Amino acid sequence: MEIKKITIIGGIGKDGQPEKVERFDLNMGDIISIVGPTGCGKTTLINDIELFANKNTPSERTILINDEPIPDDFSFDPSKHPIALISQHTNFLSDLPVGEFLQIHAKIRGSENIETMIEETLDFANQLTGEAIIRETAMTELSGGQTRSLLIADAVIIGHSPIILLDEIENAGIHRTKALKLLKKYEKIFVFVTHDPRIALLSDFRIIMSHGAMQKMITTNAEEKMAAIGLKKIDDVMLEFRKRIRAGEEITDAVFSEQIKDLAGSYQIYLKRRKV
Ligand SMILES: Nc1ncnc2c1ncn2[C@@H]1O[C@H](COP(=O)(O)OP(=O)(O)OP(=O)(O)O)[C@@H](O)[C@H]1O
Ligand SMILES: [Mg+2]
Repeated sequence: MEIKKITIIGGIGKDGQPEKVERFDLNMGDIISIVGPTGCGKTTLINDIELFANKNTPSERTILINDEPIPDDFSFDPSKHPIALISQHTNFLSDLPVGEFLQIHAKIRGSENIETMIEETLDFANQLTGEAIIRETAMTELSGGQTRSLLIADAVIIGHSPIILLDEIENAGIHRTKALKLLKKYEKIFVFVTHDPRIALLSDFRIIMSHGAMQKMITTNAEEKMAAIGLKKIDDVMLEFRKRIRAGEEITDAVFSEQIKDLAGSYQIYLKRRKV
């Protein structure tokens, strides 16, 4: 079945009341975010999507594919499951080396050029991590960030999954800006659960949640897109400090002033741009 669109039909929140967002559609190429405080039900919502819920989960939501519900007895051939969920807590049970793991997955998926796919996957993953993942490393020895980077790359390239759900990738310390840039090249549905304002503002729209319910949907307008560009600058400065601290440098007055001056300069450019 070719997936063109999925629809989320609201159910009930933790208090049993209907959700304010009654429904929304996800079309191929859409990038959306789910935001809200800790414990408000973000993971529950993407789990409902992954399970193709049909009023059979505590939230009573319904997921439609191409406008149709999924029959109760329907199950995907696991090798063809259209949804990849990169979850918040990922642990591997397999201690296979990375290269072998990818090879097995590529074989199961019936990939043609397995070697190229493995290379592409590792290359994609290594653009997101600090320290490169090597083929010989056992899956269980990867760090949290390396694991999630590899899973994202694997889902996109080898898994060919049309729908990718990512639960709080920012906490794993992977390179978010690069991740978004790389992901945008693929015509898929990406759903980010995030506390990161940049990811939220770079999405097409965001769902705001509280008390287990979808409360509001906000489409990113031109003003917010401008703000996202400004936030990138702030984010870059933070990343620069992080890099220096990780590398064992001391943050002197001179270093701090230089970064802040740079930020002030960007603000001036932003003000000028806004006028034109
Ligand atoms: N609509 C709902 N009806 C009943 N229970 C719900 C609903 N939504 C969420 N819950 C319950 O609330 C709890 C917290 O939800 P969840 O783990 O999805 O939150 P979260 O937003 O992902 O939190 P965090 O930011 O900490 O990851 C879970 O036990 C979940 O089962
Ligand atoms: Mg969660």
